[in-house]
Amino acid sequence: MAKKPIKITETVLRDAHQSLLATRMPLSDMLPILGEMDKVGYYSAEVWGGATFDACIRFLNEDPWERLRVIRKNMPNTKLQMLFRGQNMLGYRPYADDAVEYFVQKSIGNGIDIIRIFDALNDIRNLETAVKAAKKEGGHAQIAISFTLGDTFTTDYYVNYAKQIESIGADSICLKDMAALLTPYHTYELVKALKENVSIPIDIHTHYTSGLASMCLLKGVEAGADIIDTAMSPLALGTSHAPTESMVAALQGTDYDTGLDLVQLTKIRAYFMTLREKYIKEGLLDPKMLATDANALIYQVPGGMLSNLLSQLKQAGKEDKLQEVLEEVPRVRKDAGMPPLVTPSSQIVGTQAVFNVILGERYKMCTAEFKDLVRGAYGKTPVPIDPEFQKKICGDAEIITCRFADTLAPELDTLRKEAAEWMEQEEDVLTYAMFPKVAPKFFEARRNAKYGIDGARADQANGVHPV
Ligand code: CO
Repeated sequence: MAKKPIKITETVLRDAHQSLLATRMPLSDMLPILGEMDKVGYYSAEVWGGATFDACIRFLNEDPWERLRVIRKNMPNTKLQMLFRGQNMLGYRPYADDAVEYFVQKSIGNGIDIIRIFDALNDIRNLETAVKAAKKEGGHAQIAISFTLGDTFTTDYYVNYAKQIESIGADSICLKDMAALLTPYHTYELVKALKENVSIPIDIHTHYTSGLASMCLLKGVEAGADIIDTAMSPLALGTSHAPTESMVAALQGTDYDTGLDLVQLTKIRAYFMTLREKYIKEGLLDPKMLATDANALIYQVPGGMLSNLLSQLKQAGKEDKLQEVLEEVPRVRKDAGMPPLVTPSSQIVGTQAVFNVILGERYKMCTAEFKDLVRGAYGKTPVPIDPEFQKKICGDAEIITCRFADTLAPELDTLRKEAAEWMEQEEDVLTYAMFPKVAPKFFEARRNAKYGIDGARADQANGVHPV
């Protein structure tokens, strides 16, 4: 066969630390190695996304926009990539189109090249605005398929969605397996079918949780995948990704040779190894996270969701109910139209399952978000929801069948007014839009730091405790 170098997306600066250490890697830990990483020749480096943005302002007292600009400046030769939740942007609710367009514009303006856009329900209508905006700004719009299992989710389902993705003008497709449910031969079958039916490049994103990720990537490559997501080895494995060096070595000397230099990669490895030791010492990285756990295949919930469920149960003093909640999750998911479990549907379904179990009666209390999911405000669910269930949960609330954002009035002007007292840069309105409760505390700490109150005191004054 003809040579086909596989492209590598390096995730160590985003998903790896999100998966292993609750997204707590600060910019100061990245800065010393960015120059060396820039020499590698990665296809792209994933550096930004919802959780990194959230952790920056909530825990690290760091301006996420400034982080992006600094990485851009220090990695001039590498494409920078971000993860974007479609119409939900980097937040947890659907936003009006003007906010989505502005966010995309500012992301690309501050240094992003590739925007990986996904919708939790795989509703193509929720991706259109972001894709259009990315193209308008000269960016690469990659759409991620939220991969999940279930009767509905056949190869035909994914092929059909991939065709829709290609038809709205996306530049590439990512098969995004956030919950580590892919197995090697399933990956082969899916990628092969996708390659036969669409002509844009295919990227595979999976997690190492159940120990299968490298095998899935390899079978995916053999089936025709163009790009694979990996993480530098010190922050690979466990709930993170397959190790970059291992995948590069596995493909070396074959038609799929990535062309990356293992010697250069080991320089970077040495740096991240010291960070790994530091994180373990600080208690940020629990070595247990690095162990293989096939439970993911049994419970089919993403790793982050599992730890959220446990912490919600702990808060309620009901830790012993975890097993019941894990059994309730698939039932709630079925009632709610089989959404893939990824932000925000994973939080919505998980929280509802916790309520159902600890209140001893199913749907005795429903969160506003669960009602919105059931009435169609997040989009069209993969399976239609039973109208009787809809009535029970939503009462007389309006059922949405159109693209929900079409019902939303432009909201940037209102957001600008609300954020006016904090604005130091145009991007601040977007930070505020995403996290209206947390952002003011962050803005205030930033202001205090600027006027001479030292960082630590500013943190205490605002109740922000960097971890
Ligand atoms: Co991931």
